[in-house]
Amino acid sequence: MPSYLEKIDKTRLPKHIAVIMDGNGRWAKERGYERVFGHQAGVESVRQTTEAAAEIGLDYLTLYAFSTENWERPQAEVDALMELLVDSIQKETPTLNKNNIRLQAIGNLMRLPEKVRAKLCSCIEETAQNTGLTLVLALSYSSRWEMVNAVKKICRDVRDGSLNIDEISTDMLSGYLTTKGIPDPDLMIRTSGELRLSNFLLWQLAYAELYFTPVHWPDFKKNDFYQAIYEFQGRERRFGK
Ligand code: IPE
Ligand code: IPE
Ligand code: MG
Repeated sequence: MPSYLEKIDKTRLPKHIAVIMDGNGRWAKERGYERVFGHQAGVESVRQTTEAAAEIGLDYLTLYAFSTENWERPQAEVDALMELLVDSIQKETPTLNKNNIRLQAIGNLMRLPEKVRAKLCSCIEETAQNTGLTLVLALSYSSRWEMVNAVKKICRDVRDGSLNIDEISTDMLSGYLTTKGIPDPDLMIRTSGELRLSNFLLWQLAYAELYFTPVHWPDFKKNDFYQAIYEFQGRERRFGK
Protein backbone atom coordinates (compact mmCIF):
# COMPACT_ATOMS: atom_id res chain seq x y z
CA MET A 1 0.00 0.00 0.00
CA PRO A 2 1.43 3.42 -0.91
CA SER A 3 2.07 5.91 1.86
CA TYR A 4 -0.78 8.43 1.76
CA LEU A 5 0.61 10.98 4.20
CA GLU A 6 2.76 12.75 1.61
CA LYS A 7 -0.06 12.72 -0.95
CA ILE A 8 -2.37 14.75 1.28
CA ASP A 9 -2.66 18.48 0.61
CA LYS A 10 -2.13 19.83 4.14
CA THR A 11 -3.74 23.17 3.20
CA ARG A 12 -7.10 21.53 2.41
CA LEU A 13 -7.69 19.29 5.39
CA PRO A 14 -11.20 18.49 6.58
CA LYS A 15 -11.91 20.23 9.90
CA HIS A 16 -13.79 17.35 11.43
CA ILE A 17 -13.72 13.62 10.73
CA ALA A 18 -16.25 11.25 12.31
CA VAL A 19 -15.59 7.52 12.45
CA ILE A 20 -17.87 4.52 12.95
CA MET A 21 -15.39 2.03 14.37
CA ASP A 22 -16.99 -1.20 13.22
CA GLY A 23 -15.92 -4.84 12.78
CA ASN A 24 -14.21 -5.73 16.06
CA GLY A 25 -16.39 -8.81 16.53
CA ARG A 26 -15.88 -10.07 12.99
CA TRP A 27 -12.15 -9.46 13.20
CA ALA A 28 -11.96 -11.64 16.32
CA LYS A 29 -14.28 -14.38 14.99
CA GLU A 30 -12.23 -14.67 11.80
CA ARG A 31 -9.25 -15.46 14.01
CA GLY A 32 -11.14 -17.91 16.19
CA TYR A 33 -11.28 -15.59 19.21
CA GLU A 34 -14.12 -14.23 21.35
CA ARG A 35 -15.58 -10.88 20.23
CA VAL A 36 -14.11 -9.13 23.26
CA PHE A 37 -10.62 -9.82 21.93
CA GLY A 38 -11.53 -7.72 18.90
CA HIS A 39 -12.57 -4.82 21.11
CA GLN A 40 -9.23 -5.05 22.92
CA ALA A 41 -7.36 -5.07 19.62
CA GLY A 42 -9.43 -2.07 18.48
CA VAL A 43 -7.91 0.11 21.20
CA GLU A 44 -4.63 0.23 19.27
CA SER A 45 -6.53 1.53 16.22
CA VAL A 46 -8.08 4.25 18.37
CA ARG A 47 -4.57 5.20 19.46
CA GLN A 48 -3.22 5.22 15.90
CA THR A 49 -6.14 7.15 14.45
CA THR A 50 -6.03 9.77 17.21
CA GLU A 51 -2.29 10.17 16.82
CA ALA A 52 -2.60 10.42 13.03
CA ALA A 53 -5.30 13.08 13.38
CA ALA A 54 -3.21 15.08 15.85
CA GLU A 55 -0.06 14.78 13.76
CA ILE A 56 -1.68 16.00 10.57
CA GLY A 57 -3.30 18.92 12.40
CA LEU A 58 -6.98 17.99 12.32
CA ASP A 59 -9.25 20.11 14.55
CA TYR A 60 -11.92 17.53 15.47
CA LEU A 61 -12.10 13.74 15.49
CA THR A 62 -15.28 12.02 16.64
CA LEU A 63 -15.22 8.29 17.37
CA TYR A 64 -18.45 6.30 17.69
CA ALA A 65 -17.50 3.95 20.49
CA PHE A 66 -20.86 2.78 21.90
CA SER A 67 -24.37 3.33 20.61
CA THR A 68 -27.69 3.46 22.46
CA GLU A 69 -28.58 0.21 20.72
CA ASN A 70 -25.32 -1.42 21.89
CA TRP A 71 -26.82 -1.61 25.43
CA GLU A 72 -28.88 -4.48 24.05
CA ARG A 73 -25.81 -6.66 23.46
CA PRO A 74 -25.11 -9.56 25.86
CA GLN A 75 -24.31 -8.21 29.34
CA ALA A 76 -20.84 -9.80 29.35
CA GLU A 77 -19.89 -7.92 26.18
CA VAL A 78 -21.29 -4.64 27.51
CA ASP A 79 -19.37 -5.11 30.78
CA ALA A 80 -16.15 -5.89 28.90
CA LEU A 81 -16.57 -2.77 26.75
CA MET A 82 -17.14 -0.61 29.84
CA GLU A 83 -14.05 -2.09 31.54
CA LEU A 84 -12.02 -1.42 28.43
CA LEU A 85 -13.23 2.17 28.39
CA VAL A 86 -12.22 2.81 32.00
CA ASP A 87 -8.80 1.22 31.41
CA SER A 88 -8.12 3.04 28.16
CA ILE A 89 -9.20 6.45 29.42
CA GLN A 90 -7.01 6.01 32.49
CA LYS A 91 -3.98 4.84 30.51
CA GLU A 92 -4.28 7.37 27.70
CA THR A 93 -4.83 10.58 29.66
CA PRO A 94 -1.07 11.40 29.93
CA THR A 95 -0.64 10.76 26.18
CA LEU A 96 -3.56 13.05 25.38
CA ASN A 97 -1.91 15.79 27.43
CA LYS A 98 1.48 15.15 25.87
CA ASN A 99 -0.07 15.53 22.41
CA ASN A 100 -2.11 18.62 23.36
CA ILE A 101 -5.40 16.74 22.75
CA ARG A 102 -8.63 17.79 24.44
CA LEU A 103 -11.20 15.10 25.22
CA GLN A 104 -14.95 15.62 24.96
CA ALA A 105 -17.89 13.20 25.02
CA ILE A 106 -21.35 13.18 23.47
CA GLY A 107 -24.27 10.89 24.24
CA ASN A 108 -26.42 9.88 27.16
CA LEU A 109 -23.55 9.86 29.63
CA MET A 110 -25.92 9.45 32.59
CA ARG A 111 -26.54 5.92 31.41
CA LEU A 112 -22.86 4.96 31.75
CA PRO A 113 -21.74 3.10 34.89
CA GLU A 114 -20.56 5.52 37.58
CA LYS A 115 -16.95 4.31 37.29
CA VAL A 116 -16.83 5.04 33.54
CA ARG A 117 -18.47 8.43 33.95
CA ALA A 118 -16.06 9.42 36.72
CA LYS A 119 -12.97 8.50 34.68
CA LEU A 120 -14.38 10.18 31.62
CA CYS A 121 -15.18 13.39 33.49
CA SER A 122 -11.75 13.58 35.08
CA CYS A 123 -10.04 13.04 31.72
CA ILE A 124 -12.23 15.74 30.14
CA GLU A 125 -11.27 18.10 32.98
CA GLU A 126 -7.57 17.25 32.86
CA THR A 127 -7.36 17.87 29.11
CA ALA A 128 -9.73 20.85 28.92
CA GLN A 129 -6.92 23.40 28.46
CA ASN A 130 -5.33 21.61 25.49
CA THR A 131 -5.50 23.51 22.23
CA GLY A 132 -4.69 20.92 19.57
CA LEU A 133 -7.03 18.19 18.36
CA THR A 134 -10.42 17.83 20.03
CA LEU A 135 -11.23 14.14 20.40
CA VAL A 136 -14.95 13.53 20.82
CA LEU A 137 -16.09 10.12 22.08
CA ALA A 138 -19.67 9.17 21.21
CA LEU A 139 -20.76 7.02 24.14
CA SER A 140 -24.24 5.70 24.71
CA TYR A 141 -24.95 7.93 21.73
CA SER A 142 -27.61 7.78 19.09
CA SER A 143 -28.84 10.51 16.83
CA ARG A 144 -32.50 9.89 17.54
CA TRP A 145 -31.89 10.00 21.28
CA GLU A 146 -30.05 13.29 20.76
CA MET A 147 -32.87 14.76 18.66
CA VAL A 148 -35.59 13.75 21.10
CA ASN A 149 -33.52 15.31 23.84
CA ALA A 150 -33.17 18.52 21.84
CA VAL A 151 -36.92 18.68 21.17
CA LYS A 152 -37.63 18.35 24.89
CA LYS A 153 -35.17 21.14 25.75
CA ILE A 154 -36.61 23.41 23.06
CA CYS A 155 -40.17 22.78 24.28
CA ARG A 156 -39.16 23.62 27.85
CA ASP A 157 -37.50 26.86 26.75
CA VAL A 158 -40.57 27.85 24.73
CA ARG A 159 -42.83 27.05 27.68
CA ASP A 160 -40.62 29.06 30.06
CA GLY A 161 -40.68 31.98 27.67
CA SER A 162 -36.90 32.04 27.11
CA LEU A 163 -37.32 30.99 23.48
CA ASN A 164 -39.64 32.33 20.82
CA ILE A 165 -40.87 29.75 18.28
CA ASP A 166 -40.06 32.11 15.41
CA GLU A 167 -36.43 32.20 16.53
CA ILE A 168 -35.97 28.48 15.89
CA SER A 169 -33.50 28.12 13.04
CA THR A 170 -31.03 25.55 11.74
CA ASP A 171 -28.18 27.09 13.72
CA MET A 172 -30.25 27.35 16.83
CA LEU A 173 -31.33 23.73 16.62
CA SER A 174 -27.68 22.71 16.20
CA GLY A 175 -27.04 24.46 19.49
CA TYR A 176 -29.49 22.16 21.26
CA LEU A 177 -27.66 19.01 20.18
CA THR A 178 -24.87 17.38 22.20
CA THR A 179 -22.45 18.48 19.47
CA LYS A 180 -23.09 22.16 20.29
CA GLY A 181 -20.05 24.21 19.29
CA ILE A 182 -18.50 21.42 17.21
CA PRO A 183 -18.47 22.00 13.44
CA ASP A 184 -20.31 19.42 11.32
CA PRO A 185 -18.10 16.58 10.10
CA ASP A 186 -16.71 17.00 6.58
CA LEU A 187 -15.90 13.32 6.30
CA MET A 188 -17.48 10.22 7.81
CA ILE A 189 -15.49 6.98 7.75
CA ARG A 190 -17.06 3.58 8.46
CA THR A 191 -14.87 0.49 8.68
CA SER A 192 -15.76 -3.14 8.08
CA GLY A 193 -17.92 -2.81 4.99
CA GLU A 194 -21.42 -2.06 6.30
CA LEU A 195 -23.06 0.68 4.23
CA ARG A 196 -25.20 2.41 6.85
CA LEU A 197 -25.11 5.14 9.47
CA SER A 198 -26.48 3.15 12.42
CA ASN A 199 -28.04 6.17 14.13
CA PHE A 200 -24.85 8.25 14.05
CA LEU A 201 -24.92 12.08 13.70
CA LEU A 202 -27.87 12.06 11.28
CA TRP A 203 -28.32 15.83 11.47
CA GLN A 204 -24.63 16.73 11.51
CA LEU A 205 -23.69 14.50 8.55
CA ALA A 206 -26.13 16.24 6.19
CA TYR A 207 -23.36 17.28 3.78
CA ALA A 208 -20.49 15.08 4.89
CA GLU A 209 -18.60 12.96 2.39
CA LEU A 210 -19.09 9.28 3.23
CA TYR A 211 -16.19 6.85 3.03
CA PHE A 212 -16.59 3.12 3.52
CA THR A 213 -13.74 0.66 3.76
CA PRO A 214 -13.86 -3.14 4.10
CA VAL A 215 -10.99 -3.03 6.62
CA HIS A 216 -12.08 -4.19 10.09
CA TRP A 217 -11.48 -1.63 12.84
CA PRO A 218 -8.59 -3.51 14.55
CA ASP A 219 -6.72 -3.50 11.20
CA PHE A 220 -7.36 0.21 10.57
CA LYS A 221 -4.07 2.03 11.03
CA LYS A 222 -2.59 5.50 10.37
CA ASN A 223 -2.15 4.97 6.65
CA ASP A 224 -5.79 3.84 6.28
CA PHE A 225 -6.84 7.07 7.94
CA TYR A 226 -4.60 9.10 5.64
CA GLN A 227 -5.99 7.22 2.64
CA ALA A 228 -9.51 8.29 3.59
CA ILE A 229 -8.39 11.93 3.80
CA TYR A 230 -6.62 11.64 0.46
CA GLU A 231 -9.77 10.25 -1.22
CA PHE A 232 -11.86 12.94 0.45
CA GLN A 233 -9.64 15.56 -1.19
CA GLY A 234 -10.46 14.10 -4.60
CA ARG A 235 -14.20 14.61 -4.11
CA GLU A 236 -16.13 17.59 -5.41
CA ARG A 237 -18.37 19.03 -2.68
CA ARG A 238 -21.25 21.05 -4.09
CA PHE A 239 -23.56 21.57 -1.10
CA GLY A 240 -26.51 21.62 -3.48
CA LYS A 241 -25.24 24.71 -5.30
C1 IPE B 1 -17.61 -2.20 16.74
O1 IPE B 1 -17.43 -3.55 16.46
C2 IPE B 1 -17.52 -1.90 18.22
C3 IPE B 1 -18.80 -1.58 18.85
C4 IPE B 1 -19.94 -1.45 18.24
C5 IPE B 1 -18.79 -1.38 20.28
P1 IPE B 1 -18.63 -4.59 16.55
O2 IPE B 1 -18.68 -5.11 17.94
O3 IPE B 1 -19.88 -3.99 16.05
O4 IPE B 1 -18.12 -5.72 15.58
P2 IPE B 1 -18.96 -6.45 14.44
O5 IPE B 1 -19.57 -5.38 13.61
O6 IPE B 1 -19.97 -7.28 15.12
O7 IPE B 1 -17.96 -7.23 13.69
C1 IPE C 1 -22.33 1.06 15.14
O1 IPE C 1 -21.94 -0.24 14.94
C2 IPE C 1 -22.02 1.50 16.53
C3 IPE C 1 -20.60 1.66 16.85
C4 IPE C 1 -19.60 1.46 16.04
C5 IPE C 1 -20.31 2.10 18.19
P1 IPE C 1 -22.95 -1.47 15.16
O2 IPE C 1 -22.16 -2.68 14.86
O3 IPE C 1 -23.54 -1.38 16.51
O4 IPE C 1 -24.08 -1.19 14.08
P2 IPE C 1 -24.95 -2.19 13.22
O5 IPE C 1 -25.64 -3.09 14.19
O6 IPE C 1 -24.02 -2.94 12.32
O7 IPE C 1 -25.86 -1.32 12.45
MG1 MG D 1 -20.75 -3.86 14.24
